[in-house]
Amino acid sequence: MSKKRENHPQWSSWLLFVLAATGSAIGLGNIWKFPYIAGQNGGSAFVLVYLACVLGMGIPMLMAETLIGRRGRLNPIDCMEVVAEEAGANPHWRWLGGMGILLGFLILTYYSVIAGWTIAYIFKTAAGVFLGKGASEVGYLFAQFIASPWQLIFWHSIFMLATMAIVARGVQGGLEKAVELLTPALFILLLILVGYAMSAGDFQRGVRFLFYPDFGRFSGESLLMAMGHAFFSLSIGMGAMMIYGSYLPGNVSIAKTSLIIAVADTSVALLAGVAIFPLVFANHLEPATGPGLIFQTLPLAFAQMPLGSLFGALFFVLLAFAALSSSISLIEPAVAWLMEDFGLTRPVACLVSGFGCWLIGLGTVFSFNRWSHLTLFDKTFFDLLDFLTSNLMLPISGMLLVVFAGWVMQPEVNRAELSTSPCLFRLWWLLSRYVAPATVGLILLNGIGVL
Ligand code: PHE
Repeated sequence: MSKKRENHPQWSSWLLFVLAATGSAIGLGNIWKFPYIAGQNGGSAFVLVYLACVLGMGIPMLMAETLIGRRGRLNPIDCMEVVAEEAGANPHWRWLGGMGILLGFLILTYYSVIAGWTIAYIFKTAAGVFLGKGASEVGYLFAQFIASPWQLIFWHSIFMLATMAIVARGVQGGLEKAVELLTPALFILLLILVGYAMSAGDFQRGVRFLFYPDFGRFSGESLLMAMGHAFFSLSIGMGAMMIYGSYLPGNVSIAKTSLIIAVADTSVALLAGVAIFPLVFANHLEPATGPGLIFQTLPLAFAQMPLGSLFGALFFVLLAFAALSSSISLIEPAVAWLMEDFGLTRPVACLVSGFGCWLIGLGTVFSFNRWSHLTLFDKTFFDLLDFLTSNLMLPISGMLLVVFAGWVMQPEVNRAELSTSPCLFRLWWLLSRYVAPATVGLILLNGIGVL
C-alpha cells in the first residue's frame, strides 16, 4: 500500500479542493434535476424535506466521507481497507468502496446522456432555433430531439470524450484547471437568470410554489426522492468525495470545507428553482413536466430576452461545464482504482472505464425513444437506473459510510481529521452515530413499503 500511496496525487491547495468538490456537487443535479423532481413532488414540501436532509444527514456524511478518504489516501477500495485495518476492523469494508466505484460508474452512464442534451442546446440557442417560438413549439422541438437516438448518441459521445480527455490529464493538469473558472462563472450567470425571472416571470407564484409549505402531493416515495436527491446533489455515498478527500493535504479542516461545499451546492439548487418556476408559471407550463423541464422553459425565456441567444448559449455552456466538473468526479474513483490495483496507466484506465459508461449509456438513450415502451414497475430503463442509484444505493452506501466513520473509526482520528471546535465535533458525532443512520434507515424502509 505504501508504494501505491507514494504515487497518489495531491491538490495544490485547499482552495482547489473546495473548488473541485463544489464543482462535483454542483451539476445537473442542481439545475436540471432539482427543479423537475421538486415540480413532480408538489414543490415546497419536497424542498423543505430536501433541506432538512442536507442539514441532518448530508453535511455529516460529506464530512465522514472526506475524512475517510484523507485518512486512507488511496482509491475507495484500498482506502476503506486500510482505514478499517487501522481501526482494528474487518478489511471486508473494502466492498463498500467497491460499491461506491460501481455507483459512480452507473450514474455517469445516464448523467452523460443528459449532459449531452445541454451541449446540443448550446448550439440550438446560439443558432436562434427558439426565437419567436411559443411554449408548445419549444416543447415540440424538445420532444423531437429526444425522439432521435442518433442525435442523443452523438452528444452523449462528445460528452464522454470530453470527460475522458480531462480525467486522462490527471489531478493538477486536468481536474484543477477545469474547475477554477467554471464554478464561479456559473454562479454569476444563474444570478442574472434569477434577475430576469424576477422581472419577466410570475415571481410570486414561483416562490410560493417553492417555499410555501403544502404537503398535498407529498408521498412516501417523495420522501425517498428528497433524501436520495440530497445525497446525489452533494455527491455523497459513491466515493467521489472520498477520492477528492484522499488528494487533500493533511492540515485542512474538513469541517470547514464541507460546510462551504454544502452551502454553495444548496444555494445553487435554490437559485435554479427561483429562476425556473416563475418562468414556468408565466408561460402556463406544467411544473410536473419531468426531465424536459429546463429544456422547455429556459429556451422560451432566452428567446424573449434581449441578447437572449447569447445569454442562452452561455448558460448552456456553463451548465455543460458544471456537468463536466461532476462527471470527472463520478469516474475518478474507478480510474484511480484501475491504476492503483491493476497497474494501468491513467489514459488506459480512462479509456476502459469511459467506454464502459458510454456503452451502458446507450440504454438511457434508447429509453427516451426506441425503448420508451419497455418498462418495469412502470419505469423506463433511465427511470429505473436513476431510481436505483440515487434513491436506494446512494442512501444505503452513504449510511454505511457514516456508520463506519461514527462507529468503527476511533474518535481521536475523527477529531484530528475534522479539526473543528469541541462543540461542533460533538454535534457531528451525534448526527453521524445516531441521527443520520437511523433516519436513512427509516426513510428507506418507508420508501420500499416495509413501514
Ligand atoms: N452532485 C452532482 C450533481 O448534482 C452529481 C454527482 C453525484 C456527482 C454523485 C458525483 C457523485 O449534478
